[in-house]
Amino acid sequence: MALILGIESSCDETAAAVIDSNGTTLTARIVAQRIASQDEAHRPYGGVVPEIAARAHVEVLAPMIEAVLGDAGMSLGDMDAIAATAGPGLIGGVMVGLVTGKALAMAADKPLIAVNHLEGHALSPRLADPALHYPYLLLLVSGGHCQILEVAGVGQYRRLATTIDDALGEAFDKTAKILGLGYPGGPAVERMAREGDARAVRLPRPLVGSGEVHFSFAGLKSAVMRAKDAGVHADADIAASFQQAAIDCVIDRTRIALGAASAGMTALVVAGGVAANAALRGSLETLAGSHGLPLVAPPPKLCTDNAAMIGWAGAERFALGYVDALDVVARPRWPLDDNAAPVRGAGVKA
Ligand code: KG4
Ligand code: ZN
Repeated sequence: MALILGIESSCDETAAAVIDSNGTTLTARIVAQRIASQDEAHRPYGGVVPEIAARAHVEVLAPMIEAVLGDAGMSLGDMDAIAATAGPGLIGGVMVGLVTGKALAMAADKPLIAVNHLEGHALSPRLADPALHYPYLLLLVSGGHCQILEVAGVGQYRRLATTIDDALGEAFDKTAKILGLGYPGGPAVERMAREGDARAVRLPRPLVGSGEVHFSFAGLKSAVMRAKDAGVHADADIAASFQQAAIDCVIDRTRIALGAASAGMTALVVAGGVAANAALRGSLETLAGSHGLPLVAPPPKLCTDNAAMIGWAGAERFALGYVDALDVVARPRWPLDDNAAPVRGAGVKA
């Protein structure tokens, strides 16, 4: 048995959680968790402002950790390890969480585990579903990332696809901005899409049918902008048509990845903020079924950024004896697969 304190601060959510993991079977439960969203602080700017995010983490994180330990009825001394996100993300925020984790580890004489935020997303489905075994094919779709990876075990990732321009969540957020839906946009676009006709606006499906393995959403975003500017379509129809076009792209690329993946994948798994989208989950379920695989998706609350997934990744690492020294660095970029070849056009989202 291991009790892990998880800390997350890489973007615009400050979060802390206590995870109780059974060291042998690695079933776990979330003893307590808290999340403070900074949506209000960033809303006037239509996106996350790094400086505002970092300052908000400084303000909120320490009292939140105290509160979450209180919720759990535990103290720092009860923890077996401290797991903090060490990247990738907005470096100011990452440093706040990581340095807090180091200070707590030092003060309580506990091991520190520096967690890759993407590994948190990648392993989070195993927290929700203990029956999910390695290896699995993972579609990781969030605000900053859009990748398909083979997950063979903790720290064992092979990237099959990434985006050459925007991430999927970014495409949702930009569409929301074009439609005046505010930030964060994904949930608002999904809500509005339910009221619209997905066939009403003709939008491109970049690269669909080309056999290309990587994602591209920039052309779709430009087409959404032109559709809005034309002034002839209802916003709900634009939202529904965008969502369908984006999903068609994801399904096309995921189908290619299923064909290219190593033998023995136990499931198709979707994680990251956009995995909260019900329409996407529905289409992926059909695709997985046609390949004889189950679709595993964490509950929506575990899809968007949270500290339970960081505590869980920490628990998996701790069970294997992977701990980090106190001089571990914060990393703004930290790919899960170091061996993945660079992709033309792919910048910070690789
Ligand atoms: O994983 P996450 O919370 O943060 C990152 O690590 O990026 O993902 C946030 C992203 C945002 O782009 C947000 O608009 C998107 O996930 N998102 C959604 C939905 N819920 C969140 N996109 C589409 N439909 C949703 N229901
Ligand atoms: Zn995330």
